[in-house]
Amino acid sequence: MTQRETKTLTPDNAGLACAVKVLASGGLVAFPTETVYGLGADARNDRAVAGVFAAKGRPDFNPLIVHVASVEAALQIGVFDHSALLLAEAFWPGPLTLALPLRDGHGIASLVTAGLSTVALRVPAHPVAHSLLAAFDGPLAAPSANPSGRISPTTATHVATGLSGQIDAILDGGPCPVGLESSIVGGAPLALLRPGGLCTEDIEKIAGPLSKAGSGIAAPGQLASHYAPGASVRLNANHAHPGELLLGFGPMQSDLNLSITGDLTEAAAKLFDHLHTLDARDAPIAVAPIPDCGLGRAINDRLRRAAAPR
Ligand code: TXA
Ligand code: MG
Repeated sequence: MTQRETKTLTPDNAGLACAVKVLASGGLVAFPTETVYGLGADARNDRAVAGVFAAKGRPDFNPLIVHVASVEAALQIGVFDHSALLLAEAFWPGPLTLALPLRDGHGIASLVTAGLSTVALRVPAHPVAHSLLAAFDGPLAAPSANPSGRISPTTATHVATGLSGQIDAILDGGPCPVGLESSIVGGAPLALLRPGGLCTEDIEKIAGPLSKAGSGIAAPGQLASHYAPGASVRLNANHAHPGELLLGFGPMQSDLNLSITGDLTEAAAKLFDHLHTLDARDAPIAVAPIPDCGLGRAINDRLRRAAAPR
């Protein structure tokens, strides 16, 4: 693909105006959300969306999340049943994605949904994402702003490292506070399609028990090997083997630690940044055991994919 100049923009009025101009003309802008940086394109413009797949080197059957500024905007695109509406009212703006049937006249480019009759919708909470969506005044299709199969970006520098020369601009809003992608819920009965930045327990408090996603259910991005650093990853390690770098959790000797105090929220926020840092050192990575509860479930999901055979 031909290289293009990638501008870094500050998220002030001038930066936002520039981002909107790029998006309106079918360009690609990476922007911060509370979860991870997204690579945004006008969700109504097939060519722009095709550019996202090209920049990421992403398999075309993998549908994208549509980001909108408000619940009202989401209602124009998806069909919400009672529980979807309850979830939207409880958690939007925030790190929850709802996969819902497409509404007639939705206007979303077919490439976004990769031919599914459902659409993944989310109202992000990050102030820069919100300002961008409000100024653009339309839906943005945005996968995580990383080359396909690699670690998700939680800083503008991560985005630049992976995609510089492939995209038009990066809105730099600092590090992402949550650090894990959104939780995805969808289907009837409602199932958890991807654990993420919103605790499953909190979702179930509003929606009732979620069924386990069967193998047939479509969250096609849930490839077994994903979020992978270049080097191999070994899980549940209490110490490093010779030559390995140890990513610790809780009080222990390690090269980097997700949370010395064993705090899962802190660990989620640091996960991808620490994986990026260790990945740059080009050695096999060993990861300490992480408790499989609350946000730990989403962290372990990402780690299993990072460690999966490729
Ligand atoms: O936090 C996030 O969700 C970030 C930020 C940028 O919003 N985005 C993100 O997007 O993680 P991406 O493209 O890396 O992951 C989107 C996931 C994929 O697993 C995809 O298969 C799934 O959403 N997905 C998209 N549309 C779907 C649909 N209609 N039904 C089921 N799953 C869907
Ligand atoms: Mg991704």
